[in-house]
Amino acid sequence: MNQQMMEIVSNELIASKTYRMVLKGDVSCYDRPGKFMNIAIEGKYLRRPISVSDVYDDKAVIIYKTVGEGTKWLSEQPVGKKLDVLNGLGNGFDVSKEYPLIVAGGLGVAPVYGLAKQLDNPIVVLGFRSQEDMFLIDEFEKISSSLYVCTNDGSYGERGFVTDVMVEEGLLDMNYYCCGPLVMMKQVRNLSNGEGEISLEERMACGLGVCLGCAVKTAASPNEAPKYWHVCKGGPVFQAKEVEI
Ligand code: FES
Repeated sequence: MNQQMMEIVSNELIASKTYRMVLKGDVSCYDRPGKFMNIAIEGKYLRRPISVSDVYDDKAVIIYKTVGEGTKWLSEQPVGKKLDVLNGLGNGFDVSKEYPLIVAGGLGVAPVYGLAKQLDNPIVVLGFRSQEDMFLIDEFEKISSSLYVCTNDGSYGERGFVTDVMVEEGLLDMNYYCCGPLVMMKQVRNLSNGEGEISLEERMACGLGVCLGCAVKTAASPNEAPKYWHVCKGGPVFQAKEVEI
């Protein structure tokens, strides 16, 4: 982990309310994909946790959606501006497992791009609400053995959900990495016969262990007292069967 001032190299709109920002600095602490950074927002007490999508040379790439004042402020920051960033937070995905399948939805597609780059031609299933929300499709095309894209409204690719694709394409017995909305990850976990790693980044608020709003329960037997993890400290990546979602 490190704290530093990182310079904005680019900050572009790439999909509906969705921005891709490239930051320059010391990125050596991103030793695994799926880690996140915590960015200080001017005028706000709490930093904003944002997962890192990709790392190359001395650059870290984030993809974020303008959902509140903090991310709106971020979208307005110009190239050359320096941001106060806490880097390399969270555990990240375990690439040594080499699970062959990646399933992601919505903004959860961002962190699995860096993951897919480190795997050997994974099968990738991506889901978006609509065509206007889609991003990184060309990039995934280059690094996956098979890429399936579906939209909930049918405006691009197959109409439906990632789980529909998993059933139709016979992907249910594969071990997988997954990131996206909680309801999607729950369905993937319940449907799949394989082992999985899921990233619960959607549950995070402060990302610093301060707000305690990110607690998740570990799956315990009926006689056992439940245990709790904080996603920002113990995660955001967990074994799919390890936590209750
Ligand atoms: Fe605030 Fe974990 S996100 S304590």
